[in-house]
Amino acid sequence: MSGSLLPSALALSLLLVSGSLLPGPGAAQNEPRIVTSEEVIIRDSLLPVTLQCNLTSSSHTLMHSYWTRNGVELTATRKNASNMEYRINKPRAEDSGEYHCVYHFVSAPKANATIEVKAAPDITGHKRSENKNEGQDAMMYCKSVGYPHPEWMWRKKENGVFQEISNNSGRFFIINKENYTELNIMNLQITEDPGEYECNATNSIGSASVFTAPGPQNQFN
Ligand SMILES: *[C@@H]1O[C@H](CO)[C@@H](O)[C@H](O)[C@H]1NC(C)=O
Ligand SMILES: *[C@@H]1O[C@H](CO)[C@@H](O)[C@H](O)[C@H]1NC(C)=O
Ligand SMILES: *[C@@H]1O[C@H](CO)[C@@H](O)[C@H](O)[C@H]1NC(C)=O
Ligand SMILES: *[C@@H]1O[C@H](CO)[C@@H](O)[C@H](O)[C@H]1NC(C)=O
Ligand SMILES: *[C@@H]1O[C@H](CO)[C@@H](O)[C@H](O)[C@H]1NC(C)=O
Ligand SMILES: *[C@@H]1O[C@H](CO)[C@@H](O)[C@H](O)[C@H]1NC(C)=O
Repeated sequence: MSGSLLPSALALSLLLVSGSLLPGPGAAQNEPRIVTSEEVIIRDSLLPVTLQCNLTSSSHTLMHSYWTRNGVELTATRKNASNMEYRINKPRAEDSGEYHCVYHFVSAPKANATIEVKAAPDITGHKRSENKNEGQDAMMYCKSVGYPHPEWMWRKKENGVFQEISNNSGRFFIINKENYTELNIMNLQITEDPGEYECNATNSIGSASVFTAPGPQNQFN
């Protein structure tokens, strides 16, 4: 039974591929075409950055256009203009993200294009030690700005060397979100857990880390 299913599944995927390579002539003509400026990498220099989108072909009447960052409309960018510009005067890591220029037409689906603005992670907040006793649970977190969203890692100093904390080592649980990481330590052990902890955020542009410590507070002071 399963042997006879395989050839038809292959045939279907081949059809889909050739279909997307050869779009119907009518569909291509009506597609709005948007030309964008290049992706941007924000480094240490605070030189202004300008993002551009030009609507170069559309058979539909434009209603309005605006910019979004991470899906949220940027205030005061809404206009009726096919050439769009967005200027970031002093670009910082917190300005990084996925920008879209969005075009709304009078009687046609909206269209958009993406410009990625990348930056190395910057850790903008973290929770330090808590005053906890043996047997209680402790939680530390770090949050970041920067794009693409980072890979997170927690390390603990053991005999002078930072060792990666594994999520399935029993008492340690790590929760990672796009720009947030949380280390939970269950059932604190006075003899093992006090010490120096590091959270490390790494993306394709760079990395950042901060050092922190869990309770019980008077054990490491
Ligand atoms: C968009 O159009 C303006 C005005 O014609 C031009 O100066 C600019 O280079 C264009 N931008 C892109 C990304 O093509
Ligand atoms: C936007 O501008 C175009 C071109 O000038 C015009 O045809 C259209 O009516 C305008 N749309 C609105 C909603 O004002
Ligand atoms: C851009 O277009 C894609 C595909 O139509 C859509 O899924 C997405 O929500 C749009 N994004 C914005 C910001 O309008
Ligand atoms: C973190 O990511 C969420 C979801 O992508 C977003 O809503 C939030 O603004 C981000 N926070 C920061 C500090 O970038
Ligand atoms: C760690 O393990 C917990 C429980 O199994 C799971 O919910 C969580 O997603 C894991 N975290 C990571 C970063 O893999
Ligand atoms: C974060 O960890 C990565 C991978 O181990 C390392 O290359 C990088 O130097 C670390 N970043 C910092 C700021 O320590």
